[in-house]
Amino acid sequence: MLKDFTSETSIFVNMNLSIFKTNFFNSIQTKVTCQAPSNIALIKYWGKHGEQLPKNPSLSFTLSSCFTKTVLDIIPISKGTDFSFDFYFGGKSKPEFHSKVKVFFKRILPYCPWIANHHITINSQNSFPHSSGIASSASAMAALASCLVAVEELSDDYADQKASFLARLGSGSASRSINGPITVWGATDSVEESSDIFAVPLSESDYNPIFNTYCDAILLIDQGQKKVSSTKGHQLMENHPFGMARFKQAFQNMEKLIKILEEGDLDAFITIVETEALTLHALMMTGSPNYILMHSNTMEVIKSVWNFRQETKLPVCFTLDAGANVHLLYPQKDAVHIEDWIDHKLKAFCQEGMIIKDKVGRGAKKV
Ligand code: PMV
Repeated sequence: MLKDFTSETSIFVNMNLSIFKTNFFNSIQTKVTCQAPSNIALIKYWGKHGEQLPKNPSLSFTLSSCFTKTVLDIIPISKGTDFSFDFYFGGKSKPEFHSKVKVFFKRILPYCPWIANHHITINSQNSFPHSSGIASSASAMAALASCLVAVEELSDDYADQKASFLARLGSGSASRSINGPITVWGATDSVEESSDIFAVPLSESDYNPIFNTYCDAILLIDQGQKKVSSTKGHQLMENHPFGMARFKQAFQNMEKLIKILEEGDLDAFITIVETEALTLHALMMTGSPNYILMHSNTMEVIKSVWNFRQETKLPVCFTLDAGANVHLLYPQKDAVHIEDWIDHKLKAFCQEGMIIKDKVGRGAKKV
């Protein structure tokens, strides 16, 4: 049964938001550094409402090698002076990112009111090429949120929840980059303590340990800018002809995946993960206006994965984010065989032969 999750969410949000307000005033100059990884969704978040609230729960693997490292210099300013910030990426001033960061600060101000009395200099860098087409907003917003929360010196669990809560206000999927190896964002009966306002880690006693060994080979099919942003994509779900059916399906897939993760059923895992990836792109193709982010090489890789799996019976599957790149997921125990095939057969489909080999990781940390 599809619940009236929108009204339920509103009640939930009204009850809980104020717990994230910190009345903190920092009177001395502070420097803090945090790094946060990217993540890859298995159950996709696609469609939102209110202030960055998901239409359905999502679940992801947190990555480890693909991360953003951010240094904040926080300087108190005199009364009567307005809050201001500078943003540098890879050592260079990046005015083109200002509007997104400004929106983020505006949204989080009610929860971190001390910001208003400070000037903040942000220095960020990615461990992966910025132009790679890998979603960098998740790691970037999670690293920034982690720095802000680190300054507040909160207790561990609450700090993680607040970091996820703030990261979500920058980019929904960023809420899932604070913890790892598996996190869930969005209230669902399948996961205790799950919430629409922050992501929670799936307890390691609730899933088969094989999933802690998962590798993610990211095939960079197209390293250019996406033709249609995720913001626009979420918006197009508002009047999408298959919207309600999709949200219902995501709740059901979440319920199934939680059981599959517990049982360690790799065949069922593959079915759900690939269905979610293709559904995401089918939604793009059937909205109004419609669009296609997959390239012909994305399709070639998908066909190769299906052929290889049929021939070898090895448990490799693909997933896609909102772009042309392909993420190949497989357990460490089969990595030698699978990576040999990737290097010999799939490199040719990648722009400049670029493949990033990553694996599941533990989330954001202060460095
Ligand atoms: O966090 P956003 O607004 O960039 O949206 C991310 C959407 C997907 O990457 C396609 C799916 C997901 O759950 O990460």
